[in-house]
Amino acid sequence: EKAGYKHFMLKEIFEQPQAITNTVRGRINLETGEVVLPEITLGEEDLRAIERIYLVACGTSWHAALVAKYWIEKYAAIPVEVDIASEFRYRSLLVNERVLTLAISQSGETADTLAGIRRAARLGSKVITICNVVGSTMTREADGTIYTHAGPEIGVASTKAFIAQLAALFLFTLYLSQLKRSIPVEHRRRLGQHLIDSARVVQELLPKIREQIGTMIESFYQCRDFLFVGRGLNYPIALEGALKLKEISYIHAEGYAAGELKHGPIALIDKDMPVLAITPKDSVYQKTISNIEEIKARQGRLILIGTEGDTQLEKITEDVIYLPAVHEDLNPIIYTIPAQLLSYEIAVRRGCDVDQPRNLAKSVTVE
Ligand code: F6R
Repeated sequence: EKAGYKHFMLKEIFEQPQAITNTVRGRINLETGEVVLPEITLGEEDLRAIERIYLVACGTSWHAALVAKYWIEKYAAIPVEVDIASEFRYRSLLVNERVLTLAISQSGETADTLAGIRRAARLGSKVITICNVVGSTMTREADGTIYTHAGPEIGVASTKAFIAQLAALFLFTLYLSQLKRSIPVEHRRRLGQHLIDSARVVQELLPKIREQIGTMIESFYQCRDFLFVGRGLNYPIALEGALKLKEISYIHAEGYAAGELKHGPIALIDKDMPVLAITPKDSVYQKTISNIEEIKARQGRLILIGTEGDTQLEKITEDVIYLPAVHEDLNPIIYTIPAQLLSYEIAVRRGCDVDQPRNLAKSVTVE
């Protein structure tokens, strides 16, 4: 059942190219640039009238929401608020029928997320869900569903469901841009092509990165703490890396927006503090590098994940992982992979039960 893999988590990490392909298949026409999402039963008129979007989710799904905010605001020009479901359900909400609440959930059963969409719907919001489990409670209650076709996820730590959520959210962004005519058709077509191509990129990098990380973690797996930093679209990926590591290895880990370090967390940096920094050659590259220099100056133990050919990174630390250059907006899909594999390899090295971490359940159906 694990198809030769030692754990479900590893199998599911390696199933991610398929999860992307299956989630995108049939939903975008690469000749015309048209996106079709027939399971959204809301009328196009209702959707075109949407003025604001609440993205609501928990845990890893909330990290997918944080990435989607950047995409939707950039390409569909609709203001987006991202809420943790357990906060959303109890705070005062500014909701009417021109607000869309989009709930993101692998299981479709998470109690807080479910309560959140029920409350938003009662207040008049339109509700859509992005779910992985067919027929789950959220899909039955929403005005429409975009299924992620990641296949069943057994490992408690979410991996392929997250990547499929990102693919679905990028598709949904393109769909909104089509309804709103906020970007030219040709631009949408190209972005769709980049999304589809990301599956092949992930496929090619998986074995190589696993091997590299397997060696690298020997000098890191005994640490007590771990920081993950990134900027822009990759800030949520830093949060996701930290969550993966803490939940399966029980190492204390935190994710920060790189520019926030100087506002407090930099006090933690010394020669015993590993810091994984996501440093692709993107539009905020120079800014991230300045933050990295500050970490280095305080002897932080840097691991850099950056773009192939960027030899500057090797001058900063010997622990560099190179990933292929892809469209900047799709970096979150690519940069998640080393963070997942690092967490996995460290947890295995520490003898942890990666598929069944202590205190956690796959589906959190109680508040
Ligand atoms: C982390 C993890 C959890 C879930 C969260 C939401 O690896 O799996 O943080 O992401 O409990 O679950 P869903 O997506 O089913 O609502």
